[in-house]
Amino acid sequence: MRRSFARVLTAPLAVLAAAAVLPLASPQPAAADEGIVGGHQVDAAKSPWVVALASRDRFGGTRAGQFCGGVVVGRSTVLTAAHCLGEDVLGVPRDQVRDLKAIVGRGDLDASDGAEVSVRSEWINPAYDGRTNAGDVAVLTLRTRLPEGYVLPMADEGDPAYRAGTGASVYGWGDTTGAGDYARTLHAARVRVLADTECKRAYPPGGTDGTYKPSSMLCAGESAGGKDACQGDSGGPLVAGGKLIGLVSWGSGCGRAGSPGVYARASEALRVLREHA
Ligand code: ARG
Repeated sequence: MRRSFARVLTAPLAVLAAAAVLPLASPQPAAADEGIVGGHQVDAAKSPWVVALASRDRFGGTRAGQFCGGVVVGRSTVLTAAHCLGEDVLGVPRDQVRDLKAIVGRGDLDASDGAEVSVRSEWINPAYDGRTNAGDVAVLTLRTRLPEGYVLPMADEGDPAYRAGTGASVYGWGDTTGAGDYARTLHAARVRVLADTECKRAYPPGGTDGTYKPSSMLCAGESAGGKDACQGDSGGPLVAGGKLIGLVSWGSGCGRAGSPGVYARASEALRVLREHA
């Protein structure tokens, strides 16, 4: 595998290939600290498909300007949330952000391992509805191809990973408390896929935070709350059975009992992707 790296990698990506095979430079703390919300710190080398979406121009130089998450689903294809590229998040229209980067192979945002890959083009799901949050998917095409080992497969419709009760992990560098404490290192939390009936009950039509739509969403959490994605995690992956099942999209608060996290359904993203390709 390393031989094929050499052919496809540019200089910064050679660093990335090294990051994938070397142990992390900084030792992990023995006790896991509080994560995503109720999560734990994870080794980025073991989840190379997690992407930090960043703009230093917009979000400053600390934490590498990270503002959303993403996931590698093809050697030059990253999925993120459509709302991550909106003016509400960026503060300016998308075309005014000239330094959008997909950071891969880096767990600690203030470190310099892995690679910062420029985004060549992007495609925002035209069906995205900012009012209900339906269809919250965007596709980023990278300037450089990543090694095959970075690609996370997507679960197709009908995959058992979508069943209610399935254990899943959500990844990101977002708020760990709901009070604006953004993580410097990659975190993950274990949640369970919930039944559509439960999701609909939590987010009925006309709700202020969004409306649960089973065709393009799934929701996940713990009945007691406590474990969830939060602000800054958007666009990042929800993974079950080694496959992508969702992208962090929205929720009411973070980790609240009765207010599960809502995700853009990966099977719907796959359908949209096939249509767009
Ligand atoms: N919209 C948020 C973002 O842009 C993600 C919110 C997810 N919230 C939740 N409770 N799961 O980062």
